[in-house]
Amino acid sequence: MALNESDLCADPMAQFRLWFAEWRKHAGDAEGEFNAVTLATADAKGKPSARIVLLKEVDAGGFVFYTNYQSRKGAELAANPNAALTFWWPAMERQVRAEGVVAKVAAAQSDAYFHSRPRKSQLGAAASQQSETLTHYAALTDEIARLDKNHPQKIPRPQHWGGYRLTPKRMEFWQSRANRLHDRVCYCRVGGEGGEWSRGRLWP
Ligand SMILES: Cc1cc2nc3c(=O)[nH]c(=O)nc-3n(C[C@H](O)[C@H](O)[C@H](O)COP(=O)(O)O)c2cc1C
Repeated sequence: MALNESDLCADPMAQFRLWFAEWRKHAGDAEGEFNAVTLATADAKGKPSARIVLLKEVDAGGFVFYTNYQSRKGAELAANPNAALTFWWPAMERQVRAEGVVAKVAAAQSDAYFHSRPRKSQLGAAASQQSETLTHYAALTDEIARLDKNHPQKIPRPQHWGGYRLTPKRMEFWQSRANRLHDRVCYCRVGGEGGEWSRGRLWP
């Protein structure tokens, strides 16, 4: 399938929404984690690490995911807010890359999302000291039981758990083509946040 530049939106977030909707429709129930995305971060010295998270919201500002602020990724983002997301949608043979700066979402947004989750997910998120060494699995299950008992009604969102938004400065749309002569269209933000986007093709 060819990627014609004339078919692409001027705003890459609008283009992302189109492709993401197509992938979601195609993935249906077959792909449980259709919103999985690889998040790459780097520490203060630039040493990288990557892991998968779930994309939970796409808004005008960028891509929102939720995690533990004290996890390895949280510590890296506190030291170095530059990060990248890579989506791979095999049935469409499409890759989307987004690079930019990450910031925490508003506390009210994290509260709303936290409390929209099933109680067991809230307990798991609140109990986990994500990325720390877990010497005994029972330490986790005991902490879940303790929180469950202490909060028979609403579980408060812990301060160390919430959302991040990656606001892209660069995005790339990749479409597979025959003989590895793939289409790549790259958008760069010109003139800082909220500025216009420039667009061009890259060699495959
Ligand atoms: C399909 C999938 C979805 C995941 N979604 C999340 C997520 O939304 N948030 C999260 O913190 N971890 C998620 N994880 C776990 C992370 O990949 C990772 O193990 C965890 O966040 C700790 O990463 P860190 O030590 O680099 O901070 C997911 C893993 C998989 C395989």
